[in-house]
Amino acid sequence: MVLALPKKRDIYTKKAKSEGYRSRAAYKLLQIDKKFKIFQGEQTVIDLCGAPGGFSQIARDRSHGKARIFLVDIARIKPIPNITDIIKGDITKPSTILQIQQSLEKHGADDNDIIILADCSPDVSGHWTTDHARQIWLAETALGISNYFLAKIFVTKVFQGEQYQELLEKIKGSYQEVKAYKPPTSRKKSAEIYIIAISNKNKSSKRYNRLHLVESE
Ligand SMILES: C[S@@+](CC[C@H](N)C(=O)[O-])C[C@H]1O[C@@H](n2cnc3c(N)ncnc32)[C@H](O)[C@@H]1O
Repeated sequence: MVLALPKKRDIYTKKAKSEGYRSRAAYKLLQIDKKFKIFQGEQTVIDLCGAPGGFSQIARDRSHGKARIFLVDIARIKPIPNITDIIKGDITKPSTILQIQQSLEKHGADDNDIIILADCSPDVSGHWTTDHARQIWLAETALGISNYFLAKIFVTKVFQGEQYQELLEKIKGSYQEVKAYKPPTSRKKSAEIYIIAISNKNKSSKRYNRLHLVESE
């Protein structure tokens, strides 16, 4: 199994620089949106593992500035115009989920339809089994967050490998429509693929119950 290694600056890296996008990843989300039409105006977008911000910039532009966008990453992120909030935190920590929830409430964004984006990659060690397991863990954590917020749409990156099918089944357990798509920007040699999941099956229940989130730190 091969991980995408940054090589010479390719067409999308140059394009991102000239068009003012923070990363070449921006074009992956653009291609996903052109195919699945996920951005439809007044939605709330939670961009997990979103640094340096290319996905959030696309969400902002494709929703014509109507979406509220919450960018979350363990790394520091430089401010981006017209992004509702930037949250520095580890998505595997309950304190980060609480911060997201509080920010959504503060900005009156908790009643909109929610889209969760998760372009999560661990620090790649080069040891495939370890990197695959860590990435699956991040994607599965993002699925848990999507279920917590009853996100209508969940888009996650997954490194395909031995644990891929099991994760796919878990996503199918939570969402009615589940599609796998490799955008043209994703390098052919890369093991990554994106899962686009629509209509949370738990939609009829309450979005989230504040009392269920116990701060443990
Ligand atoms: C491929 S980059 C995301 C690129 C981004 N979608 C964009 O368009 O610019 C993967 C990100 O995952 C973040 N990440 C990895 N583990 C994380 C964690 N536990 N919590 C939050 N972010 C994490 C990394 O810091 C990194 O910024």
